Amino acid sequence: MTRKILITGAAGNIGAKFAAHVRKKGSYELVLLDRMGGDGITAADFSTWDKRWTKLFKGVDTVLHFAAEAAGTSTWDMVLRANIAATQHVLRAAREAKVRRVVFASTNQVMLGYRFDESVTSVTTDLPPKPLSPYGISKLMGEEMGRGFAEETGISFIALRIGYFQRGENIPGPHMGIGVWGQSMWLSNRDMMHALERSIEAENVPFAIVNLTSNNPQMRWDLKHTRKVLGYKPRDGHAPVVDARIEAEDKKARKARIEPGTWFNEYFHKVIG
Ligand SMILES: NC(=O)c1ccc[n+]([C@@H]2O[C@H](COP(=O)([O-])OP(=O)(O)OC[C@H]3O[C@@H](n4cnc5c(N)ncnc54)[C@H](O)[C@@H]3O)[C@@H](O)[C@H]2O)c1
Repeated sequence: MTRKILITGAAGNIGAKFAAHVRKKGSYELVLLDRMGGDGITAADFSTWDKRWTKLFKGVDTVLHFAAEAAGTSTWDMVLRANIAATQHVLRAAREAKVRRVVFASTNQVMLGYRFDESVTSVTTDLPPKPLSPYGISKLMGEEMGRGFAEETGISFIALRIGYFQRGENIPGPHMGIGVWGQSMWLSNRDMMHALERSIEAENVPFAIVNLTSNNPQMRWDLKHTRKVLGYKPRDGHAPVVDARIEAEDKKARKARIEPGTWFNEYFHKVIG
């Protein structure tokens, strides 16, 4: 039987690309939701609870929960509603509708505090989290809500710590920003589509948090766990190009002493580089 896949944030970059990919392959039945609404997309703002959510989730196999304020510079006010409350409401609807799995779009930014900590040569998901922004904290909270949700309900929950996935063609290079760190977490369109398919199809995963980047040479992101848990096999990779702009970005961010606690003051956007 064809799996029914529900996407929150379906009007956004990742949601729209995956929906187009699925339509082309005819691989899944889709339910598309976004606060924006749109062509084939039902309008649904998850920052407030509505009984309607459970009805929309009925018969769904896997929820891909992408809806969020996705900018690393989002303020507390923004993430409290769109990332924290909305995730709670999505999990509530998933529980009431008894779905099989929830895949949560978490972020590399849960680990941004390791950017200049070269003593850590492999950034694995079992290291202590080091978010530096309200956004990073909100995603860490989503992961932890998922941990409790999986334990309580027995519904599978997978958090993807997504790297750097640009709009459109998604060509990697120095234009990406966030210095060498930014380029070294590039995630190609092809690898992302494959990872999402594996996140739906992988068996025997009660709960997992995995890194998700392409296979970028010299990067510090660990993908061994992702390969093992999801059967992820990235086919792309990009070695960071270090030019004057990248050196300047790294210098500025190093000087700004990004460290845990930065999130408290909401000045993260001034120091990301
Ligand atoms: N693109 C990346 O590089 C990247 C990296 C790490 C994590 N992520 C995460 O992946 C997810 C998708 O990212 P994206 O690049 O497609 O972002 P995007 O901003 O393009 O899409 C997010 C979508 O969510 C919708 N949305 C926001 N709040 C909502 C709410 N309360 N109810 C319903 N819909 C709501 C928006 O309207 C938008 O269409 C986000 O959760 C983001 O934090 C993305």
